[in-house]
Amino acid sequence: MLRFLTAGESHGKSLVAIIEGLPAGLNIDVEEINRELKKRQLGYGRSKRMEIEEDKVEIISGVRGGITLGTPITLIIENKDWVNWESIMGVTKEVLSLSLCKERELICPRPGHADLAGGIKYNQTDLRNVLERASARETAVRTAVGVIAKLLLKEFGISITSQVLQIGKERDEKKFKQEIDKAKKEGDSLGGIFEIRVNNPPIGLGSFVHWDKRLDGNLARGLMSIPAIKGIEIGIGFKGANLPGSQVHDEIFYSSSQGFYRKTNWAGGLEGGVTNGEPIIVRCAMKPIPTLKRGLRSINIKTKGPSIASYERSDICAVFSAALIGEAVVAIELTRSLQEKFGGDSLEEMKQNYKNYQKMIKLKWNI
Ligand SMILES: Cc1cc2nc3c(=O)[nH]c(=O)nc-3n(C[C@H](O)[C@H](O)[C@H](O)COP(=O)(O)O)c2cc1C
Repeated sequence: MLRFLTAGESHGKSLVAIIEGLPAGLNIDVEEINRELKKRQLGYGRSKRMEIEEDKVEIISGVRGGITLGTPITLIIENKDWVNWESIMGVTKEVLSLSLCKERELICPRPGHADLAGGIKYNQTDLRNVLERASARETAVRTAVGVIAKLLLKEFGISITSQVLQIGKERDEKKFKQEIDKAKKEGDSLGGIFEIRVNNPPIGLGSFVHWDKRLDGNLARGLMSIPAIKGIEIGIGFKGANLPGSQVHDEIFYSSSQGFYRKTNWAGGLEGGVTNGEPIIVRCAMKPIPTLKRGLRSINIKTKGPSIASYERSDICAVFSAALIGEAVVAIELTRSLQEKFGGDSLEEMKQNYKNYQKMIKLKWNI
């Protein structure tokens, strides 16, 4: 089953992912990965850093002639900004410039970031040593892993889309830019809500038999691991808590032409942690970006005196990018549950298992 590790600092040389557990025989379209990486970088409200970077993936193992070998795949995304940071973030002592390191030292932790808790936890008095890995830059390479997962899902007719529903309090799409411009002018930042939809999932992904096999739980864990995501809802979600059961649950119907069917999808495609064949609908709430130009009150960890939190070039709003990262994370979790059910060492074997299952449920359940 797909598992992966990522490595890399925000201003380090590069970001890396090693993916293990993908079947052999999958076509890898590098251009498709790069297109998604570009989309992640865009989106109104991102910082100047995104103008420096031009994320492109290099694959250095696990793929031959554009096709997976079933062996670990290594992805690398270079940080173009590295040339400006080598003397601050360099691996060896010799390349570091003490004066530049001092200049870029972070000693006034930013509320809403891992800075202070991370500094205490890892005993680091230059909070840059926390910022660099806690940064959402890591999600660039996670997005690349997600695109590969999407390529696998595509082989089974499954697609994933997303949509930004809200920026700050604004729900009218036409006013999103205006809201972001206003926040920028005020030195502030904004969060929002996005929705992810999985089209055409087969019935029976995930399981109720054990807590760690529930697809709803695994989706929530993956999405919540995206920096700044603070709320997840599936289907009707939080609204369901205010309504009686008769208005929340999707009643079941049957006709010989359609088989089993529902007239609603309040469950968001998941019942008991298992896909029920309806599209999966998940919404995520993203908190506003915590680094503010206007500055939040903090403490200088050296003098213990009051100070304004450090400011480092920052996005105003990253909800559009987070939606794409959300798609990637959902693709990864879906791929894992697809492999759990139809697993095989090659794509052909996996497809055969999938076909057999479809044949079986058609015969026995008229689906
Ligand atoms: C795509 C993306 C871009 C982000 N850009 C920034 C940024 O420029 N500045 C910032 O302070 N936080 C940014 N964040 C949010 C922080 O990464 C996040 O709030 C921080 O890591 C703390 O984690 P937590 O909010 O999950 O507790 C971004 C998040 C995402 C998903």
